[in-house]
Amino acid sequence: MSLDGKIADAQGGAARFSSAADLAHLEAQVAAADGVLFGGGTLRAYGTTLSVRDLDLLAQRQQRRQPEQPIQIVWSPSGNLDPQLRYFQQPVPRGLLTTAAAAPRWVQSGLFDTVWPISEGRTQPWDWPWILAQFNAAGIETLALLGGGGLAAELLRCGCVHEIFITVCPLILGGIAAPTPVEGKGFLTAAAPRLQLLSHRVVEGEVFLHYRVCSTSARGDNFLYPGE
Ligand SMILES: NC(=O)c1ccc[n+]([C@@H]2O[C@H](COP(=O)([O-])OP(=O)(O)OC[C@H]3O[C@@H](n4cnc5c(N)ncnc54)[C@H](OP(=O)(O)O)[C@@H]3O)[C@@H](O)[C@H]2O)c1
Repeated sequence: MSLDGKIADAQGGAARFSSAADLAHLEAQVAAADGVLFGGGTLRAYGTTLSVRDLDLLAQRQQRRQPEQPIQIVWSPSGNLDPQLRYFQQPVPRGLLTTAAAAPRWVQSGLFDTVWPISEGRTQPWDWPWILAQFNAAGIETLALLGGGGLAAELLRCGCVHEIFITVCPLILGGIAAPTPVEGKGFLTAAAPRLQLLSHRVVEGEVFLHYRVCSTSARGDNFLYPGE
C-alpha cells in the first residue's frame, strides 16, 4: 500500500507501484500456501494472478510434497467474470467460490478445476468459518488472502485472518475513491481487530511489516458496526 494507506489509485486499476523486492516477497507468501484467495474486483483489475515461478520456491514446494502450484481461488458472488481474462490461460489450478445461483454455468464451462457453490443460507452474510472448513476438507490448510479490501473486510469480520503482511511503499495516492486494504463497513474502535508486530524490515525505502492478529476485539465480538 501507499504511505497514505491506498492499495490502488483512484481509478481502481491494478496496483503496480511496488518494487521487485516486494513482488518476490509476495511470491514467497503465495509459494508457502496451499491455496490463494482473492476477490472478483481484484481479478477484474489485474486479469491475472501471481503464480510461483521462482525455481527455489518451486523446489521447496516439492520438498514439502505440495502440488507444484497453489490453487488460485476467486471469490465472486455474482460470477461476473470475463472468460477471456488471462487468468484462465495461466498454468495454475483454478477455484471459484460463488453463490449456488451463479455456479452452474461455470461448472459447465470447465474453466475452473473446483467450484464451491454456496447456498443462500450461508451467503447472507457469508459464512467464512464454514467455507474455510470446506477448503480445509479439500486439503487447503494454509490460505493466502491477496485482497482486495472487500474480501479482506469479510474475513476480518469473522475473525478468520491470522497474520497480515503489509508493505508500505514510498508514494502518496490520495483520493477518497482509492481502495484501501480493508473496505466494508469498518469496525468501531472497541471492536477493532488488534495486531502484534512480529517483524519489520526496510528495503530501499519500502517497509515490510508482518503482524499477527491477536484478537478481534476486547469484548470477543467483532460485529459492532457504526449505526448498529
Ligand atoms: N495493492 C495491493 O496489494 C492490492 C491487492 C489486491 C487488490 N488491490 C486492488 O483492490 C481493488 C479491488 O478491491 P475490491 O475491494 O474492489 O474488490 P475485491 O476485494 O477483490 O472483491 C470484492 C468482491 O466483493 C463482492 N461484492 C461487492 N459488493 C458486494 C455485495 N454488496 N455483496 C456481496 N458481494 C459483494 C464482489 O463480487 P462480484 O465478483 O460478484 O462483483 C467482489 O468479488 C483493485 O483496485 C485492486 O487493484 C490491490
